[in-house]
Amino acid sequence: MADTFTLTNNNTGETVDLQLHEGTTGPSAIEISTLYKEKGLLAYDPGFVSTASCQSAITYIDGEAGILRYRGYPIEQLAANSNFLEVAHLLINGELPTTSELIKFEEIISHHTMIKESMRNFFHGFHYNAHPMSIMIGVVGSLSSFYHDSLDIHDPRHREISAHRLIAKMPTIAAACYKHSVSEPIMYPQNNLDYCGNFLHMMFSTPCEPYIPNKTAIDAMNLLFILHADHEQNASTSTVRLAGSSGANPFACIASGIASLWGPAHGGANEAVLTMLEEIGDVSNIDKYIAKAKDKNDPFRLMGFGHRVYRNFDPRATIIRKMCHQVLSNLADNNNPMFELAMKLEEVALNDEYFIERKLYPNVDYYSGIIYRALNIPTNMFTVMFAIARTVGWVAHWSEMIADPMQRIGRPRQLYVGATERDYVSIDKRK
Ligand code: ACO
Repeated sequence: MADTFTLTNNNTGETVDLQLHEGTTGPSAIEISTLYKEKGLLAYDPGFVSTASCQSAITYIDGEAGILRYRGYPIEQLAANSNFLEVAHLLINGELPTTSELIKFEEIISHHTMIKESMRNFFHGFHYNAHPMSIMIGVVGSLSSFYHDSLDIHDPRHREISAHRLIAKMPTIAAACYKHSVSEPIMYPQNNLDYCGNFLHMMFSTPCEPYIPNKTAIDAMNLLFILHADHEQNASTSTVRLAGSSGANPFACIASGIASLWGPAHGGANEAVLTMLEEIGDVSNIDKYIAKAKDKNDPFRLMGFGHRVYRNFDPRATIIRKMCHQVLSNLADNNNPMFELAMKLEEVALNDEYFIERKLYPNVDYYSGIIYRALNIPTNMFTVMFAIARTVGWVAHWSEMIADPMQRIGRPRQLYVGATERDYVSIDKRK
């Protein structure tokens, strides 16, 4: 018999046995899906702190131990040995590719990088200073209007080609957002370049001058993209799953994920960290800002610090911090005052009782912006970079969900705290 967990009502003594589900690793989950039907009770968990919203075989996190694994492989090993497209294959298909599988996958992705010519006109409709994330939400959603041939979500081949199109076209769309903001011609992708090199080419080449991406920049981008590729049921991935649970097409679902990612408590944090460091300006101001972060009456938070799941350290931050040193010294920028300031701020916060007590550590985005800055990526493009990488995770989760025969529309309930029944009052009698 499966293990059960018994809930007791302390007032009535009534009990209910709930089934316990075991994963392959990590905490068990109590099944409460019959609780309402059988007992008329709802589970209340604002922010989904203790809620497993689905079963998934993609990514595993142990927040206490600082562990992150994609399909069982530790993030440290993937970061040291792999590249982004290999990791994308792993996340989407479940296994690391063989040499021939990888060559085929790279070929497929590079042959889907172009966007429809008429789509290029969309960019010119946006105001010159539009935030690239706002453009991206609109343009990615609009992909569904171009690919009617592959919108049957119940057809595995349609799902696969949509996944390939999304992964391939995100860098093209992202670079076009940037080109629009600097009033430069949108560059076409080049199939002879790898994924990251091609993105840098579309960002920084112009029709009059090619940009030759250097190895340090390509390596750094591969690493950041690997680290950002997936993170189980975070806010944007849960958004993609919820949007997709109604049967919406994948382009619309990914657009909703991009919207969720944009918030400063999520992917918008990498942009917010740089804005914060610029505002702090100098190590002499650190104490003032630490005091602001601790003040409950001040909305200021130390951006890039804290994480819902990691309560010890974020393994991605440890890898990125090391990469920061490497990139800055290889790009002859090892005297980067922003990096010095970030390291000092981290040191002060990590020795402060407020941050120690609440287990607040630097997260993945504390240092990622500094690397992007060193690669000349403008600050308002940082979250867009995150979106390019996370598209792989979103697509993997969306595909996993649709292929699940148990899949149903996501429909949370609520604890109602509004007015009880009352009668309509005509407008002339209202006070
Ligand atoms: N600066 C100051 N205090 C903080 C911070 C911070 N960055 N983060 C959390 N706290 C405090 C809270 O005020 C709260 O204090 P209290 O217990 O005295 O009320 C306590 O720590 C717990 O914080 P919560 O907000 O309840 O934690 P939650 O898990 O809901 O939020 C989050 C996690 C959103 C990441 C939060 O730490 C935060 O806002 N960090 C800054 C934004 C950020 O870097 N986001 C990126 C996350 S990583 C990613 O999405 C890629």
